[in-house]
Amino acid sequence: MSHSPTIVRRDLHFDMAADIPRFWVEGDAHKTRFFDAMSLMFPDGERFFIDSVRAFRAQIADDPVLDAEVSGFIGQEAMHSREHLEYNDRLEKQGIGAKELVQVLKTFQENRAKKLPPLGQLAVTICLEHFTAMLADQILRHPGTMHRSDPRMAAIWQWHALEETEHKGVAFDVFRRVGGSPLKQYLRRTRAMLFVTGLFTFRVWQFMWRISKAEGTQKDWRGWLRLLGFLFVSPGPITRIGSQWLSWFVPGYHPWKHDNRKLVEATRRHYDELAKAKPLPQAKAWAAAAG
Ligand SMILES: [Fe+2]
Ligand SMILES: [Fe+2]
Repeated sequence: MSHSPTIVRRDLHFDMAADIPRFWVEGDAHKTRFFDAMSLMFPDGERFFIDSVRAFRAQIADDPVLDAEVSGFIGQEAMHSREHLEYNDRLEKQGIGAKELVQVLKTFQENRAKKLPPLGQLAVTICLEHFTAMLADQILRHPGTMHRSDPRMAAIWQWHALEETEHKGVAFDVFRRVGGSPLKQYLRRTRAMLFVTGLFTFRVWQFMWRISKAEGTQKDWRGWLRLLGFLFVSPGPITRIGSQWLSWFVPGYHPWKHDNRKLVEATRRHYDELAKAKPLPQAKAWAAAAG
């Protein structure tokens, strides 16, 4: 049984205007690079998600609802990947070694992740989708997180957060169909979550450290402390997602057991309307949706 809301592919284009500040989150280098580090991981990561779900397409063809959701999932992730490539081009132009960092991930995917069996790749995908869904929930639930950020960049993250929430159950539902007995599924997805949590955490900090080294902010300990305060205290997204992360280990877990459909509704109306107009007037988009 699926619980997903309608999954809409919104072909939005976010123009990387030249006057977007280098440190677009509150003018703060370390906070900005936390988001930028994740952006560097998205294009290749999202292509990996698409491939790992697509590998099981034939096995779910008898379920037209899930099949349609998979189409929506692939469409949304493809748009995210495209927009984050532009985002990352902007980072490359800032001389922070963006391309080299993307290559680190590409090499890891080629040598390790893509050598996992298809079901192992799908398990990694559902774990990373759990991470994107948890962080997306924080962005939608606490829009103030980005109120002091550049509205054009905030709009990209809000749009991405909306769609990550809309499709958060899709890969998981495919996994439930093809993953074998409930016990096998449970063991596979919990083991994968421990591995993915360690790896994801390591990569984010590795990327931030290397960026800060490239731009000479790695010894700015006040900046690192401000980032830790931002992540763990106020607004504290990492602290707030702790219970959702743990809920993954409850037998019978499903992403929509954390039901945040109401949270999505207000935001999606704005982006549905904006999807009809190009280019996206980002500042207005964010201001309107954030209220
Ligand atoms: Fe995405
Ligand atoms: Fe996703």
